[in-house]
Amino acid sequence: MTDIVSMTTAAQSATAAQASDDGHLFALSDAAAVLVAETGTTPCFAYRLDVARQRFVDLRMTLPEQVHLAYAVKSNPGPPLLAELAGLGAWFDCASAGEVAAVQTARASAPAPTSQQPATRGRMVFAGPAKSEADLRAALAAGARIQVDGIEDVERLAQWHTGPDPLPVNVRVHPLTGISETASIIGGSGPSAFGVDEEELAQFVAGCQAYPQVRLSGLQVFSASNELDAATLLANHRTAMGIGQRLQAMLRHDLDLIDLGGGLGIPYAVGSPDLDIVALGAGLGDLLEENAWFTGHVVLEPGRWLSGPTGVYLTRVVRVKQSRGTTFAVLEGGINHLLRPLMTGQSFPVRAVTPRQEPATTDWTDASGPAEDDRERTAYTLAGPLCTSLDRVGTAELEPLEPGDLVIFGQAGAYGFTQAMTNFLSHPAPEQVWLGGSITP
Ligand SMILES: Cc1ncc(COP(=O)(O)O)c(C=O)c1O
Repeated sequence: MTDIVSMTTAAQSATAAQASDDGHLFALSDAAAVLVAETGTTPCFAYRLDVARQRFVDLRMTLPEQVHLAYAVKSNPGPPLLAELAGLGAWFDCASAGEVAAVQTARASAPAPTSQQPATRGRMVFAGPAKSEADLRAALAAGARIQVDGIEDVERLAQWHTGPDPLPVNVRVHPLTGISETASIIGGSGPSAFGVDEEELAQFVAGCQAYPQVRLSGLQVFSASNELDAATLLANHRTAMGIGQRLQAMLRHDLDLIDLGGGLGIPYAVGSPDLDIVALGAGLGDLLEENAWFTGHVVLEPGRWLSGPTGVYLTRVVRVKQSRGTTFAVLEGGINHLLRPLMTGQSFPVRAVTPRQEPATTDWTDASGPAEDDRERTAYTLAGPLCTSLDRVGTAELEPLEPGDLVIFGQAGAYGFTQAMTNFLSHPAPEQVWLGGSITP
């Protein structure tokens, strides 16, 4: 069993940014990664809770007060991360009864609010294109604002809601035009399994009249994920506000909540820019000023932006093989731990730390290390241990690898372990190591 406490202390003090260009893509320095790998077992994920905390606080500070941050649990549902964010008063975006339960547990373990922290706990929003009875009942019991995807959700909520007042809900709307997504993850304005198509909104609103136990009081529009351009996000949000204004006119009562979804992007490659969150915050301020008809709460549901940069995935090379012009590094872990590259075609950033250039963990602040540019590099196809040629976690130019060398994937705190096909071939689940937490377990 890993000695998490001593590892935490040592690795936390070894988390300085890399001296190299890609340093900002890796939550741990090479020295800290080696320390984690040698103290525990590989493959493993290591996450820095101090990074999550800082990102939440930084983002919060750039946003107008009217905007609340609901962490999208699906991006990384790790209990220490949820507890950390709960302690900061975060709202949460849940998509299953399991996520609701995880948030409730996290809130129960979060420290009581202090003078620096909000006095009230954040709230919960609940979304999903195919909500089961268990999901809806759990969301109802937790007091979540449910984002209905169609009249079926309204019908079932009307049946199960027991409170004296009508249950306020949001409708998720799938815009017809005026949205864009740089890489298709949510799916643009084509056919969609999500929400009510914008052109059918009036019909949906009319249909809701049959269910007086449910009150349509808000809107959710989420149209782009991993978007690095603040202007693109803001243009989508402008479209959402326009839909909100039309929805309010149809309803003839005020909306009290507009949820603009997640989608804040993070860089996965050297040279890729960071999302300008200051521009996003300022742009949202302007947009809300232009839309003074709306005075309710605005919610953003970032997942990737908060959790992605907290994590790295560490795995060792098992063998190196040349095959018909391709050099494979076959790793201990593959798509059973990191599936996202295969699904999106986008690799996580990769570094290798070999014993031949391993940094001294006792003097990690000496960042001189080997000069990156002088190292000979080879183009590797990174394969995993599964019995399928689909098991590829990326390609990378790395210094020559040998069995036992450590390979580090950056930005792996979001849509990493949680999105992988863990059970295939029954290899052990990777250990998840949480560093820098403020909450004593
Ligand atoms: C409803 C909903 N909200 C928020 C998110 C989080 O998106 P992101 O990680 O791009 O911020 C997702 C991701 O799929 C989602 O489906």
